Amino acid sequence: MEVERIFRNNRKWAEKMASTDGDYFNRLARGQNPDILYIGCSDSRVSAEEMMGLHPGEVFVHRNIANMVPNTDLNVMSVINYAVRYLKVNSIVVCGHYKCGGIHAAMMQEDMGILNPWLRNIRDVYRLHKSELDSIKNTEARYRRLAELNVTEQCINVIKTAVVQEAYYDRKLNVYGWVFDISRGHIIDLEIDFEGILRDIMDIYRINRKANQNK
Ligand code: CO
Repeated sequence: MEVERIFRNNRKWAEKMASTDGDYFNRLARGQNPDILYIGCSDSRVSAEEMMGLHPGEVFVHRNIANMVPNTDLNVMSVINYAVRYLKVNSIVVCGHYKCGGIHAAMMQEDMGILNPWLRNIRDVYRLHKSELDSIKNTEARYRRLAELNVTEQCINVIKTAVVQEAYYDRKLNVYGWVFDISRGHIIDLEIDFEGILRDIMDIYRINRKANQNK
C-alpha cells in the first residue's frame, strides 16, 4: 500500500464530509463528548467504529493485543481513568474476537520474546479456566472459548479500578463484554453479569470510598 493513496483517500473523505455537512469539522474541533469507552484488539480486521456503525466523536477507543486490561499497564489504566473521570463515559466495553492471534499465541508453548509478559496475562486466564478449556476437544472451539473467557476476565479487571467503582456508585456506569465474530461480522454480547461480578469480587477488590459506603 502506498502512503500516497492514503492521503488521496483522506482528502476525498474530508471533502465529502464537509460537503454533506458544512459544520462537520467545526463541530469535531470544538471537542469530544463520547458516551462509551471501547477496549478492543489491535487486529486490523476488527475496526471499532466501522463495525459499530459509529462516527468520529462517538466512541473513545483503546486497542492492544488481545484487548487486555493489565493492572500495571499505564496505557490502558490512563485511558480508563481519563474516559471515566473526565469524559464521563457511561459505558465501558471490552470487545474480544474469534481468530485472535494473541489468544492463539498464548496457547502455544513457545518463547515469543518481548511478547512473553503480555501473553502471560492471557495464559493466566487459561490457568483460571483450565478444566473448562481442556475439556473442549475441538481446537478452534477452545480458542473461541478462551477469547470469551478472556473478555470476562478483562471486564473484571476494569471493575477492579477505583474510578470505575466510584462511577458505578455515582452514576451507574455499566461494563459490557462482547466478542466479534469475524467470519459473520456480528458482535455477540456475552451478557456479563456486571452487578453479580461486582458483588462477588468487591470483598477483595473494594478500594473506593463510595464503594465502601455502599457495602
Ligand atoms: Co486479536
